[in-house]
Amino acid sequence: MANSADLRWLAAAARLSARARPLSRPNPGVGAIIVRDGVVVSRGWTQGGGRPHAEAVALNGVDARGATMYVTLEPCAHVSARGPACADLVAASGLARVVIGCGDPDPRTAGEGIARIRSAGIAVEQVDCPFSRASLAGYLAQRTKGRPHVTLKLAMSLDGCIARANGESQWITGAEARAHTHAMRAQSDAILVGGGTLRADNPRLDVRLPGLEGQSPRRLVLTHGAAPDGWDALPSPEAIHGLRDDLYLFVEGGAGAAAAFLRAGLVDRLLLYRAPILIGGGRQGVGDYGLSALAQAHDRWHKTDQRQLGKDTLEIYEANPCLPALSPL
Ligand SMILES: NC(=O)c1ccc[n+]([C@@H]2O[C@H](COP(=O)([O-])OP(=O)(O)OC[C@H]3O[C@@H](n4cnc5c(N)ncnc54)[C@H](OP(=O)(O)O)[C@@H]3O)[C@@H](O)[C@H]2O)c1
Repeated sequence: MANSADLRWLAAAARLSARARPLSRPNPGVGAIIVRDGVVVSRGWTQGGGRPHAEAVALNGVDARGATMYVTLEPCAHVSARGPACADLVAASGLARVVIGCGDPDPRTAGEGIARIRSAGIAVEQVDCPFSRASLAGYLAQRTKGRPHVTLKLAMSLDGCIARANGESQWITGAEARAHTHAMRAQSDAILVGGGTLRADNPRLDVRLPGLEGQSPRRLVLTHGAAPDGWDALPSPEAIHGLRDDLYLFVEGGAGAAAAFLRAGLVDRLLLYRAPILIGGGRQGVGDYGLSALAQAHDRWHKTDQRQLGKDTLEIYEANPCLPALSPL
């Protein structure tokens, strides 16, 4: 049975896996930690382009005999031209125990990775670890829904406005919140605004953080028309089902694009940056997304995190996956 120490190590492996994001795409960013007697022996995360995998990095050059490996995703069971199956590497490692945070829905691995490790006499425990699942959100969205994980970001005033009535929107939030947004961009595969925002602001949408300038994601515009140079057009929110190599999509508004994604039930996470200002009579952050009764708005979101960023507050909400979209496909 997994115990609380196991869950702490799995949480640490999930944090480690963030280093793989987004460079591992289209492979999942996985984290692995090898521990003996409470001491870290080795660790690894998925490398750029998806190989080597986290387990191969963690096992490389290490005497793992008798130790425990904590890994966020079930070790793969398929051989690739770019490397061996991790389940075989783990089976030959001499590890005493493997604790897995999330099963792999890839039919080439699902259950087979665990079976192969067990058949080598290694104890395997699969835990349904929320930290592991959260760290694999993009991969799981692609595997189970055939689309990237979608985060909608809104920078708003206390009265829910994203711009003045005349369109002026720079800046609502302060430097700390904007830096946080840039860090979120750097973890995304693609970033999107609506055609209205492109015409109003012509935003760069790049990452302006020291050391991460090279990590600016691809730019998409939601539009019925064509995209200018340097942008790709997305003709509808539903067209994200064609983005099969992207694990994480970051939607930065405006109100029309936000409403279109919400109406289609294609927002998994909300990032609300709230500045302590009142705009009054400004442009609302979210357009009409198809509510026909107030009751329909309830229970769609639950808060998972909240923090202060300078003068501003960041709130993070996750969508309730059990409720259908207001306007399903
Ligand atoms: N504070 C913030 O966080 C923030 C963030 C972003 C923007 N803003 C502000 O928001 C304002 C712009 O917001 P907005 O609501 O006018 O524009 P918007 O949401 O950026 O864009 C609306 C446009 O998106 C496209 N669109 C919407 N639904 C679609 C669908 N289902 N299929 C295909 N295309 C669709 C259409 O583009 P086409 O007309 O090209 O077909 C539509 O005109 C600006 O003032 C900007 O500064 C603020």
